[in-house]
Amino acid sequence: MKEKISESFIQTIYPKILYYGTPVLLLTTLNEDNSTNISPMSSSWALGYSIVLGMSSTSKAYENICRHQECVINLPDSSLWTNVEKIALLTGKKPIPSFKEEMGFQFEKDKFGVSGLTPTLSNLVSPMRIQECPIQMEAKVVDIRSLKQTPSLVAVETEVVHVHVHSDIILRDNYIDPSKWSPLIYNFRHYFGLGEELGKTSRSET
Ligand SMILES: Cc1cc2nc3c(=O)[nH]c(=O)nc-3n(C[C@H](O)[C@H](O)[C@H](O)COP(=O)(O)O)c2cc1C
Repeated sequence: MKEKISESFIQTIYPKILYYGTPVLLLTTLNEDNSTNISPMSSSWALGYSIVLGMSSTSKAYENICRHQECVINLPDSSLWTNVEKIALLTGKKPIPSFKEEMGFQFEKDKFGVSGLTPTLSNLVSPMRIQECPIQMEAKVVDIRSLKQTPSLVAVETEVVHVHVHSDIILRDNYIDPSKWSPLIYNFRHYFGLGEELGKTSRSET
């Protein structure tokens, strides 16, 4: 248990970044020529088989899901962080949005080639999934909403329709073994793995 913190110990700041530690996902979407784009993302949450993605409308991913309402939510494990970082400053969008060009982004169509990741056919959707990612969730896009406060950002509601999991992290047929699954965490723009297990909720079935 952590010691009680006195109020005088707490400061007010205006953090430049609020990415407070969420799993990285690699979203695959269908380009206009039926090839597959990969977009690294960290804004997502899952409830049941619904997954909501937080996305910039300036991305190729957004353009692709507006045209073709399917995607694969691929979850890399922590060992894949360098593969993710190889495509961090790339976009499949052409022309490159000017603000991204100023940030040093470059156009790249073949993000599989650059990242060293392997495309593999999906079962129920057209975008390829990523073989090296231990969890690959095929999904249909159900709804796209602009954020009220920042309309250039969108919340993309998806419904997962098929889940592929590497055998070595499966527990008793239909569970993911949390002691074997090691998500890649995006922690204030630094990549982390998980630490040791601390305990489990009373609702855990494993
Ligand atoms: C680890 C990581 C996490 C990111 N998270 C998000 C995110 O949650 N939402 C988003 O719109 N962009 C996110 N980005 C930025 C996109 O990956 C970037 O805009 C990229 O150009 C998108 O590719 P695309 O334009 O080909 O779709 C993230 C980048 C990295 C490296």
